[in-house]
Amino acid sequence: MKILGIETSCDETGIALYDGKQKKIIAEQLYSQASKHSKFGGVVPELASRDHVKKLLPLLKMLLEQSETPVSEIDGIAYTSGPGLRGPLLTGASFAHALSYGWSIPCVGIHHMEAHLLINLLEKPAPEFPFLTLLISGGHCLLIKSEELGSYQILGQSRDDAVGEAFDKVAKLLGLGYPGGPLIEELAKKGDPNSFLLPRPMSKEPHLDFSFSGLKTAVLYTVKKQKKEISENFKADIAASFQEAVAETLLIKCKKGLEDNKLEQLVVGGGVAANQYIRERFEKDLKGIKIFFPPISKCTDNGAMVAVAGYYRLKKEQSQKIEIKPKWDLAEI
Ligand code: KG4
Ligand code: ZN
Repeated sequence: MKILGIETSCDETGIALYDGKQKKIIAEQLYSQASKHSKFGGVVPELASRDHVKKLLPLLKMLLEQSETPVSEIDGIAYTSGPGLRGPLLTGASFAHALSYGWSIPCVGIHHMEAHLLINLLEKPAPEFPFLTLLISGGHCLLIKSEELGSYQILGQSRDDAVGEAFDKVAKLLGLGYPGGPLIEELAKKGDPNSFLLPRPMSKEPHLDFSFSGLKTAVLYTVKKQKKEISENFKADIAASFQEAVAETLLIKCKKGLEDNKLEQLVVGGGVAANQYIRERFEKDLKGIKIFFPPISKCTDNGAMVAVAGYYRLKKEQSQKIEIKPKWDLAEI
């Protein structure tokens, strides 16, 4: 079963062809608009929608050439139907349904966070349900008990900023570009993670929720307190201390989630999972736990994760009518 996956929930236009039987990504194309939004310090939804409209067809043509697969061999289409930005979601949904109609094949809408989770099923060996899942992206921070395919119990989530959002905001206040995560990670390599003691928000509380806006504010106050001109060394130290505070906070909650639910596997996904420092901290600190991270290129938004999720959905469900859900709780799918 070959599935075409289309991702347009934010500022990446991702398109991929996945062979579910072989568990293999046949071909993929990804176009990032990040540089277009960089000067605004965040994604401008209208610009993002227009760019998706421009890029979808050329990317599809390139994908079909690259895959050397005739359209007649494609069995279904999956697109991100939410959560995400309304305009960008609509472009992907309309494109997917037009293809589905033209090619007379089924089409299904995918929950973006389920796609971030399910891309891990391509790992060898793959995680086996049930497992704990930590999804850390620009819009979400979720701790989930993944009971089985399609059944997700939300154990905790951010009460304010998502982790990626905190990275982006801290990058902005340090005068770095967008997206901030990779820039903070790079800068932090030159800094000392123990130079500033920043809070580990909600880490002493018994629940599994997160809060990252206070951590971001703590960085802001530390920067403001600095009387002298901010040096590159200072910036590197604060980036490293912030990254360490995030890593430790996530670790504390994951350990608790694993213990409370007697789970021995942890599956991590979403853009922030690309952070090498966080990956290494997890490997070092969670002894005896099997940890799954997607390959770095599959952490941030891409079409392959949507195609993989689409394969599992289309095996179970019929084609759906055109639909987008800009706000959508993962526990409700
Ligand atoms: O999953 P994603 O591509 O989009 C959403 O679903 O939101 O995640 C994007 C987020 C951005 O906030 C970006 O700064 C962050 O992931 N990110 C990182 C890294 N790469 C991307 N954060 C920390 N370290 C990274 N290496
Ligand atoms: Zn994402």
